[in-house]
This record gives sequence, structure tokens and C-alpha cells, in this order.
Amino acid sequence: MDFEKVLQVLSARAAQSNHPQEVLRAPEIKTLYDHIKTLPNDERGAFGKRVNELKKSLEVVIEVRRQELDKVDLPPIDVTAPMDINAPQPELLPSEQGTIHPLSAEIERISDIFNRMGFVTEESREIDDQFHMFESLNFPKGHPARDDYDTFMTEETDANGDRLIAPAHTSTMQNRVLKKYRGNLANGEAIAAIVPDRVFRNEDLDARHEHTFYQVEGVYVAKGVNVGNLIATLQEFLQEYYGKKLDVRVNPFYFPFTEPSFEFALSCPFCEGKNPDCKVCSGEGWIELLGCGMIHPNVLQAADIDPNEYTGFAFGCGIDRLVMMKYGIEDVRHFESGKLDFLEQF
Ligand code: DAH
Repeated sequence: MDFEKVLQVLSARAAQSNHPQEVLRAPEIKTLYDHIKTLPNDERGAFGKRVNELKKSLEVVIEVRRQELDKVDLPPIDVTAPMDINAPQPELLPSEQGTIHPLSAEIERISDIFNRMGFVTEESREIDDQFHMFESLNFPKGHPARDDYDTFMTEETDANGDRLIAPAHTSTMQNRVLKKYRGNLANGEAIAAIVPDRVFRNEDLDARHEHTFYQVEGVYVAKGVNVGNLIATLQEFLQEYYGKKLDVRVNPFYFPFTEPSFEFALSCPFCEGKNPDCKVCSGEGWIELLGCGMIHPNVLQAADIDPNEYTGFAFGCGIDRLVMMKYGIEDVRHFESGKLDFLEQF
């Protein structure tokens, strides 16, 4: 085996590649590993060691190439220079040095659609308290459904001695939105708001589950609102977002903060239910997209809204999944990966 020669060939390949790490999976390396099995026992250790050394040398070349690919050529800025008001306008960076993240672009689109439907957009927060995460949403202390929202907590506590929490859903904003727009009701107007933002969960990671992801919450309250309004609103939104009619499935479900509660699923655009091994829908043919329901009277009451006078619906939709299905993205982990070859496609 000519190790020198293999190293030379593979180093040259890595040094020119746009995906240098792929060289580690080159057939030449596989041949070396396969060769180990054919050797007598007493030669295997030494040979294996040489293969590992070769890989290590190759990794150095790969790292150099990766850094070269990541390097961006920006002109140096002299931050100590005096500001010259007559200086020419600063030049914008060329667009190939950055693109808008697909989730940001889609959140903008989602927001636009709901704004046209009369909903205002509110922002959530990335650290919240347990009152907004649970109590205001009808999960009293010790409620078993709290376990479905296992997320990160800080060591710091709030005034009640409860640890602060990285929200596991955008529903944390329901109480704030209801209180902020409660005045609309007395004027005969509806409360209609959406909250698109980032949420966190303790998940076993796979193609469909991330610890950090995005949801859009929707809240609508007025007199005489019913389940028909809820389903029609969501269908209208989905149709507008995807630009076509879709197969949706509505199943009864349970959330403490809605009664009745439902789960919306879309038919899997990857396999359309035809591949029992489909990684995206686990062969189920459907992808759960959102939870929704009629706002529970206790949730309205927690915001000082009389549930005998007003009713409303709420929904919480996973944005990552919505976007995955729009563009045929097969793995949710791409979004947070920071991989340029993924991001540059948008
Ligand atoms: N917050 C729920 C979750 O993340 C989703 C949800 C269900 C939001 C029903 C709602 C709702 O507003 O009414 O699992």
C-alpha cells in the first residue's frame, strides 16, 4: 500500500473541493479499511495505525480548505478614523456574502398573510415566567400536561421563587395579547393577533424534531366565534401560503388551554402516504402541523374577559414544518445548522 501516494491524491482533491470533508468518505479510504480485514492479526494494529495517521493528515488539509472557503474578503475598516460627513455613501455588501435566512423570510410572508386577514403581529420573548408558560393557560401547578412542555430553565427565579423558563410554545403570549387588546371588545371589535417567534424544547433530535424551533400563535376573540370560524381561518391561511388547496386532517386532541381542542395535519408532500419507510412522516402519510381549539373559559378569565359574553379560538403552528413542506426540506436540523450550502439555496 502506497500511503504517501493516497495521501497526496486525496490532499490535492480536498484542497480543490467545495465540500472538502467529503474526501474522508473517498473510496480510497474505504479500500484501506477493507484491506485491514484481509491481514493476519499481528499486522492489523500497525496497518490500522497508519490509516488513522493518514486520516489525521488529511483532516488538517480539510480544515485549511474549509477556512479558505469560509473566508470573506472585506476591505479593512479603520475604526479610529474621524467621521467625514462628506464621505461617499457606504457601499452595501455584495449579496453573495449573505442571504436572508429562510425562516426569517417565511415568517415575513406568514405575517403578511395574517395582517391582510386583519391580525396584528406581536413579538414573543425568549425567557418567560411560569405564570405565562403554564398558570395563565390553565395548567395549575402539578398538572400532568406540563410534562409535554419540558424545556430549559434558568437558575434565577421570579418573585414567586419559580425558575424562569425558555418558552416551549408561543402560547405564553396569549395572556399578554388578550390583556393588551381587551379594549377592542368594548368597542365592538375583535382581538386578532399572531405571534411568530422562537421556542425551545427538550427533544430527542431527528429529522422532524429540533430543540430550538419556531411557532406562530394566533388568537381571535369576539362575540359568537365558533369552531367553523377557526377551521375556515386556518384553511384560508394554508391555502394562501401554499398557493393551492391541500389535504388537511382535523382530529380531536387535548390541550389544557382550549376546549374543544384539535390537531391539524397535512398530507405528507414527500411520499403522499405511499412510502412506509418515509423518514419525514414515519410512514404515517400525514404531518402534524398545528394545534388549535376554542380558548378555554379559564384562559379568558385570567385576562379579565367574560367567557359568557365572548368566545375565541387560538392556534399554534410549527413554522419549521410549514416551511419544510413548502420547499421539500427533508430535515428540520438544516435550519439551525448554519450550513452555507443549505442557506444559499434561498
Ligand atoms: N401550544 C401548543 C403546542 O405547542 C399548540 C397550540 C395548541 C396552540 C392549541 C394553541 C392552541 O394556541 O389553541 O403544543
